[in-house]
Amino acid sequence: MTIHIITLFPELFAGAFEHSIIKRAIHKEKVQLHLHQLREYSTHKHKKVDDYPFGGEAGLVMTIEPILKCIENIQAGYSTKIPVIYLTPDGEVYKQSIANEFSMYENMILLCGHYKGIDERIREHIVDREISIGDYVLSGGELAAMVLVDSIVRIIPGVLNDETSALTDSFQNGLLSHPVYTRPAEYNGWKVPPVLLSGNFAAIENWKQEQAISRTKLRRPDIL
Ligand code: 6GU
Repeated sequence: MTIHIITLFPELFAGAFEHSIIKRAIHKEKVQLHLHQLREYSTHKHKKVDDYPFGGEAGLVMTIEPILKCIENIQAGYSTKIPVIYLTPDGEVYKQSIANEFSMYENMILLCGHYKGIDERIREHIVDREISIGDYVLSGGELAAMVLVDSIVRIIPGVLNDETSALTDSFQNGLLSHPVYTRPAEYNGWKVPPVLLSGNFAAIENWKQEQAISRTKLRRPDIL
């Protein structure tokens, strides 16, 4: 999979993808990440990429031309249309099922907005999907793009191994995860639930399922 990220702040991504699972996925060539500096596509003498909103109000709006030129430049390298995903607080709220869907894409473009956002005509004519990562406002789409990349890349087949398997993640089966414990079996008098030490595989699986359900009922009844 190739993920293209269009941003005014490519340097924000330095470090985010240089550790752990994402780093390994890049190394294994399961994913390629390309950062595109939007400002390079401005034809303005001062590389301006924004302007005042029509109708008069505070703030700036990102202009059509640099965004369109950048997307066209990326698209020129492909024979099939690449989906364009715009990160915006008024988009569809992101969840695991969307990550699963995106993880099956061959290529995608993540467009990060700033200021008051982008000219609506780009959204209308060019953007395929609009995603928000939750009901709060960030100063730009970059952190949201990082969230998407992390959640998508880790479930690409072959990225995780058995030890880090995504199959038992919270949300992946519509439930939160059961609690987990490791050695020692007792610390400070705090004991691990005895069933986990019982060796009874069926009883353990049953316990995990019950825990996942009761935890979901208690914490996230909205997803049940
Ligand atoms: Cl995708 N962008 C911005 N700027 N704020 C957000 C968001 C995205 N998702 C939640 N808040």
